[in-house]
Amino acid sequence: FGYVNYLVEKQRGEIIDNLIEGLSRLEYRGYDSAGLAIDGDVESEVDIFRAVGKVASLKAEIDQCAPERSTLFTNHVGIAHTRWATHGQPATVNCHPQSSGPQNEFVVVHNGIITNYKAIKILLEGKGFVFDSETDTECIAKLFKHVYDTNLANGHDPDLNELTKQVLFELEGSYGLLVKSVFYPNEVCATRKGSPLLIGVKSEKALKVDFVDVEFPTTDEQVSAKTLQNKRLGLLPVAQGDSGLRQSQSRAFLSEDGAPMPVEFFLSSDPSSVIQHTKKVMFLEDDDIAHIYDGEIHIHRAKRESGASATRSIQTLELELAQIMKGPYSHFMQKEIFEQPESTFNTMRGRIDFENSQITLGGVKSWLPTLRRSRRIIMIACGTSYHSCLATRSIFEELTEIPVAVELASDFLDRRPPVFRDDCCVFVSQSGETADSMLALNYCIERGAITLGIVNAVGSSISRLTHCGVHINAGPEIGVASTKAYTSQYIALVMVALSLSNDSISQTDRHREIVAGLQKIPEQIKTVLELDAPIKELCETVLKDQKSLLLLGRGYQHATALEGALKIKEISYMHSEGVLAGELKHGVLALVDEHLPIIAFATRDSLFPKTMSAISQVTARDGRPIIISNEGDSVWDNALANLQVPLTVDCLQGLLNVIPVQLISYWLAVGRDIDVDFPRNLAKSVTVE
Ligand code: G6P
Repeated sequence: FGYVNYLVEKQRGEIIDNLIEGLSRLEYRGYDSAGLAIDGDVESEVDIFRAVGKVASLKAEIDQCAPERSTLFTNHVGIAHTRWATHGQPATVNCHPQSSGPQNEFVVVHNGIITNYKAIKILLEGKGFVFDSETDTECIAKLFKHVYDTNLANGHDPDLNELTKQVLFELEGSYGLLVKSVFYPNEVCATRKGSPLLIGVKSEKALKVDFVDVEFPTTDEQVSAKTLQNKRLGLLPVAQGDSGLRQSQSRAFLSEDGAPMPVEFFLSSDPSSVIQHTKKVMFLEDDDIAHIYDGEIHIHRAKRESGASATRSIQTLELELAQIMKGPYSHFMQKEIFEQPESTFNTMRGRIDFENSQITLGGVKSWLPTLRRSRRIIMIACGTSYHSCLATRSIFEELTEIPVAVELASDFLDRRPPVFRDDCCVFVSQSGETADSMLALNYCIERGAITLGIVNAVGSSISRLTHCGVHINAGPEIGVASTKAYTSQYIALVMVALSLSNDSISQTDRHREIVAGLQKIPEQIKTVLELDAPIKELCETVLKDQKSLLLLGRGYQHATALEGALKIKEISYMHSEGVLAGELKHGVLALVDEHLPIIAFATRDSLFPKTMSAISQVTARDGRPIIISNEGDSVWDNALANLQVPLTVDCLQGLLNVIPVQLISYWLAVGRDIDVDFPRNLAKSVTVE
């Protein structure tokens, strides 16, 4: 997160508060440690504050250091970061901002991973740099200093953009990066590759342009790959006008009358931290360098060869502040569980004509004829999003009659399986930024497949890079454990399956049945949420001290069992496993005794009798299940608990069955005093491979 004020008078204390508040809204992305950099009292001095733990610890650390809060800054750049450790333990020394040295001449905050950091580190150590941290980020800050010094030694004084380009030229890997320097007061460069970054703009005056052109160089400016290669890691100074690195132009961002205007910029990896200040944002693309100074944004390109678009628009966010506030709930996760009647409705809103059983998905409509010719559908995702693919696989197969494969993105990448031009690859992601899914998407695009995104975060990488897609419109999901995104992804996928098959007359009745089922889902979820109190009690009594929990389901409910087990693991840290009921007898039954609680999904569908026999196998071994069944079905006398949910169409039943397990995981975590929205070691959006 970065905050820039230009011709807007701010006290240092206000700047700190802005940075801290921005960080708190990003905390769900990582919360091992946090830090920020602001200008000191002495000219050309940057102060860094860092602390292990959540953003609140950073705030406490700053309060303790008590920097002068009343110092006024008319122009200022502050940068801040909350971390999810990849290289190096969550220790103060590994927190960001990372610095070029004791004088903090260059300070950097960074998301992502620099894969060649070891080579850079060795090189810089050879040149006398002493590294303090175990992070890959520190090599970026030190590289800035080294490249800067080398330029000066060669009589060249680069501007911050040029310097950033030279540094990026040496980096491999992924980054969302902000850099600030005492040599470039009140300037910042923001750049990204594979990690999201956006700039919010707040100004009292009207803006002259609401887009920025990015001009690409002409071919005669290009230099041979060999020349570029020679510069790699040579860390040579680059003379002004060297076409190898001067690869783009930029246009300024001006006020209506061309005069300097007071303006504030908010740089962030997520719109949710910007929304309370402004709704005007510009999303950066990979290889963009946004150079901000004198109240203007200048966009440059770090690389010539790229399919990037030629303009960067200022967009107006539709997000409302209330959507990212907890309201009356104790945790975001609880709020998001209880939001599901609305979020599922929003996924369908304007897309389903319930009277005529017609679905219109604007983002895939024109692609339907091509998609219908696909020889295979491959669904690719991670975590909860993967489970929504599993949950809908069988309705896809039934309706489209196209073979469907479901893949975990990481495993897919490990195997690098054959993908063909007539494959339709569906990418499901709440954040739209998960690195494994992004890499798998690039892999499929390279092989000519058609790609379809099912994404929550508007403007995210996956939603931009896929050929077509559906936004699930669930609203911002902050809790690390995904809940409402799951039910909305599920519905969006069912709608895609319905759209793909709406030319099939033989499916008409089935379509009507499913659409009628979808219409009732939001109300039925409300009914299921009434189980909150009994579930809380169940967690506080029977389940509280358990070490392990099994979830048993088959057919459509296998995905529900897996998703429930993931929720329980993620936030209550209780060992939990989702088991395919048909596999019970092939091993898992050995775990069953009178102690192990087993949640069994026994709602009515064609597999109901088989589920019953699996439950009998459990009870015959003194196991005491918790049964999730349909209203009106007879309760099991010796069950630990009977939870009853409304009946819906078989392929939609998972939407209702998952709610009790979301609540179970929530109350188990609360009972164990776990920070529900920030479970240890996890992050909401995993932008590293
Ligand atoms: C992380 C989160 C999970 C999420 C998964 C996939 O592991 O903790 O909750 O399901 O990433 O994220 P995506 O944004 O791609 O759905």
